[in-house]
Amino acid sequence: TYNQYNFNKQLYTLLQKCTNTTSVRQVSHKNKPTPLAPLTFNETLNYRRNQAKRSILVQVQSMESYKELYSYISTLGNVHEMLHYVTSTDQLHFIIVEFDNEEQVSNIIQNSSHINSGESFPIHSNFLWFKATNRKNSKLKIPKNFKLGMENGNQIPSKNEICNLLLGQDNTNHQIQTLHDVTKLNDVATRLRFLTTRQVELSVAGMFPNAVAYPFGSSVNGFGKMGCDLDIVFRLAEEQTKSDSRLIFHCKANNLYERSITHRHMEVVGDVLQLFLPGCTQIRKILQARVPIIKYYQQFTDVECDLSMSNMSGVCMSDLLHLYGSIDARVRPLVFTVRKWAQEVGITNSSPGRWISNFSLTLLVLAFLQQPNNAPPVLPSVHHVLQQIGLKCENVLEETLQFSFSESGKTLKFKSSNTDDLETLLKQFFNFYSSFDFSSKAISLNEAISITKPEYSPLYIVNPLERGLNVSKNVSLDELEKFRYEIRNALWVLESNQGKSNSNWGLLEMFQTKRKSFQSNYHSFRHDRLMEVSKLFEEDSNGQENSKETNKDSY
Ligand code: CTP
Ligand code: MG
Repeated sequence: TYNQYNFNKQLYTLLQKCTNTTSVRQVSHKNKPTPLAPLTFNETLNYRRNQAKRSILVQVQSMESYKELYSYISTLGNVHEMLHYVTSTDQLHFIIVEFDNEEQVSNIIQNSSHINSGESFPIHSNFLWFKATNRKNSKLKIPKNFKLGMENGNQIPSKNEICNLLLGQDNTNHQIQTLHDVTKLNDVATRLRFLTTRQVELSVAGMFPNAVAYPFGSSVNGFGKMGCDLDIVFRLAEEQTKSDSRLIFHCKANNLYERSITHRHMEVVGDVLQLFLPGCTQIRKILQARVPIIKYYQQFTDVECDLSMSNMSGVCMSDLLHLYGSIDARVRPLVFTVRKWAQEVGITNSSPGRWISNFSLTLLVLAFLQQPNNAPPVLPSVHHVLQQIGLKCENVLEETLQFSFSESGKTLKFKSSNTDDLETLLKQFFNFYSSFDFSSKAISLNEAISITKPEYSPLYIVNPLERGLNVSKNVSLDELEKFRYEIRNALWVLESNQGKSNSNWGLLEMFQTKRKSFQSNYHSFRHDRLMEVSKLFEEDSNGQENSKETNKDSY
C-alpha cells in the first residue's frame, strides 16, 4: 500500500547495499541484484519499457539451446537475464535475453543477418531466431551462478491445476488469495507484453523516433491474469521538448479531418503490421467503432492485441485502477474472484457483446468497496482521491492527461479501519448487488454512492474520468437479469458454505453453473422482474421521484 511505500523504498536501498544479496531468479555474471519491482503505475511502466528496450526475443530449437545461445550472445553484450517460454498455440521455444543497456541491443540488431531466400522481406526487428549448429560443443562456458529463468514461463494454469490448488486450501479466504496468486500475470508474460509494444514502436522508428506504444488495460492496471489481451494506444508524434534550433523539419500538411487522419494512419499501421512485422497475424481493422482499433495476434509473444491510436483515456483509467488496487491488499484478490466467477457461470465473455465486461465488473467491485456496509469502507471515493491530490473534479480527464494518479497517490492519506476478511467481503459484495436497484440507480465511484440514472440503460456505471459516459452501455436487460440471478445463486452458495465437508467446496461450488435450476427459475424470475419494471414506470408517470440521494458524498 502507499503507506508502505517509503518503507519499501528504504528496504530496497538497504538490499542494494548488501553485497551478498541476490535477485530471486538468478544472478548475472556481474553479481548485480535485479531491482525489486517498482510500485507506482508510472514507475512500473518506465521500468518495464526500459527493460524491453534492453531485451531481444530469440527463437530457439529447444530449452537446451540456451547454453549455446548464452555462449554466443555473451560475446556480443553483457547478458543480464535469460528467460525461456513456449508459445501455447504453436509450441515454439523462445528465450527472452535481457542485456545491460540499449546500445548492446542496437548493436546486436545491426549485426544480425537475413536468410537470402527471397521469400521474406528483410526487415530489422527485436525478434530474432538462433541458427542451430550440428557441432556438439560440450565445453560451453556458462558461469556457475547463471541459471535460465523458467518459472512457469508463459503457461496459463489449467482449470484442473487451479481446481486442485483451491481444493488443497484450508478455507475460502485462502482460496480467494490463492486464485489471485496463481492466475495473475507473471514476470515473463509482462515482459512479453512490453516487447510486443516495443516491436510496434521500432517499426516506425526511422520516421518517428519519439513514437510511443503505451500498453493499457489489464496488462498493466494490476488486474491482469495470465492470457489476458494487450490493449495498446500508439502515438506516432509524442510531445517533444521545445528546442531553439533554427533548423526546422519539413513536414507534410494535414488536409483531412481529425477522424479521417486517424483512420488513414490506422490503415497504414495495419498494413505495416500485416506486411512487415514478424509474428503479427490475423490482422483485422475495425475502423467504424467509436474507438477504431486494429486487432491482431502476436504469434511469437502469444498475445492477442487491440491497437488504437486515438486517445489516452484508457491509460489514465489504468493509472486510476492501479492506484485503487494498491490502496488495500484485499482489492485485487476480490476482483480476480468476481471476474473468475463471472467467467465460470457464463455471464461474461472475453469478446465484447451485450454482456458485462471485465472492466465493468472491476468497477462494480471497487464501487462496493467504497460503501460503508456493516463496517467502514475499504476504499475512498474518486472525489476524495482527487481532492487529496489537488485536482478539481470537473474535466478530470483533461487534467489527468498531464498527470499521474499513482505518483500523487504517494501522498494520499487514506487508511481504512475495515478489518473484514476476503470471504466476508465477497459475501457482502453479492449481498450488496442482490438488493441493488439497477432499474433506477446508477453506480458512481466519484461520489461512492448510487445516483439516479441519467438515462435509460439496463446497467449504468458512470465513467469516473468522463462523467457523461456510461461504461456499461453495452449491457442488455436480459444479460443484466442473468447477472442478478447468478449473484443471488452465488450468495446462496456462500451462505450455505459447509467448508471442506463438501467435495467441491467454497469458490469451486460458487463457480459451478446452476444451469439446471437456472432454466426453470429464470422464467419466473424474469416475470417478477418485468412486473417490477412496469410498476416503476407507473410510479414515474404519476410524477413520483425515484431517488433523493443524488450526489450525496459519503466523505
Ligand atoms: N476502457 C474505458 N472505458 C470503457 C472500456 C474500456 O476506459 N468503456 C479502458 C479501461 O482502462 C480498460 C481498458 O480500456 O481497462 C481496456 O478495456 P478491456 O480490454 O475491455 O478491459 P480490461 O480491463 O483490459 O480487461 P480484460 O482482461 O478483459 O481485457
Ligand atoms: Mg484488455
